[in-house]
Amino acid sequence: MAESRISGNQCAVARQPAVLLEMAGVDAGYGLSRILFRVDLRVYEGEVVALLGRNGAGKSTTLKTIAGLTPPTAGRVLFNGREISGKASYVIAREGIGYVPQDRRIFADLTVRENLEVGRRAGGKTEWTPERIFGMFPALRELSIRRGGTLSGGEQQMLAVARTLMGNPRLLLLDEPSEGLAPIVVRTLAEHILRLKEEGVAILLSEQNLLFTRGVCDRAYLLEKGRIQHEGRMSDLANDQRLLSRYLMI
Ligand SMILES: Nc1ncnc2c1ncn2[C@@H]1O[C@H](COP(=O)(O)OP(=O)(O)OP(=O)(O)O)[C@@H](O)[C@H]1O
Ligand SMILES: [Mg+2]
Repeated sequence: MAESRISGNQCAVARQPAVLLEMAGVDAGYGLSRILFRVDLRVYEGEVVALLGRNGAGKSTTLKTIAGLTPPTAGRVLFNGREISGKASYVIAREGIGYVPQDRRIFADLTVRENLEVGRRAGGKTEWTPERIFGMFPALRELSIRRGGTLSGGEQQMLAVARTLMGNPRLLLLDEPSEGLAPIVVRTLAEHILRLKEEGVAILLSEQNLLFTRGVCDRAYLLEKGRIQHEGRMSDLANDQRLLSRYLMI
């Protein structure tokens, strides 16, 4: 047998991580205007992936297409090997994709704890409870009886992510999570993302903030005018000045 072995019965051949999400040749848009053109994108189990691009590049549209809010007009979206394109957004959420929109949309008149309860869903791979959430986001415990509308931008972002976790997602879609947050708050957000990764939640996040993404993402896609222009390791992209200035104007 050609397979090389190391101590005991540990196999030296690394196991290929499974593809969790796959977009293949996806077109999408609004009414007659086509925004995404043959988008190919993958997220593997346990990965944090960045979707980078300038304003209007189509980042939100890509995430909305995965979440079932902007159905594809061509191509396929597969989650865990099953086709999800064309399914209703609540069905896609139930299959294990949690979506945090760019405007966060927390309930202003509900308390933090009530916002979490709204996100609760039975079943799923991991069981998130408010207690487990408060263990991960201690600041939310302090705020649990405050109304959502009175929270700061960073606190609202934390609550939006936490509420989505209550649906037990295997994949989180975060649309520009660092937008409008102070650098110190962005650092806390980065720590939370790395802890979620340790918990086995895969993440696809859209961003324009390179400093933030280079600290948390494994791989990155560059989007321009609805087309993927580059795909690679985050560390390689962060050092590629030609690509950064061409597609992100950095
Ligand atoms: N509901 C809509 N109806 C029509 N066109 C839309 C709609 N939403 C977005 N668009 C258009 O689609 C294109 C891509 O927008 P999208 O919001 O996906 O970009 P983005 O990369 O998320 O930008 P930003 O960084 O500003 O959030 C833009 O030209 C935008 O005007
Ligand atoms: Mg956007």
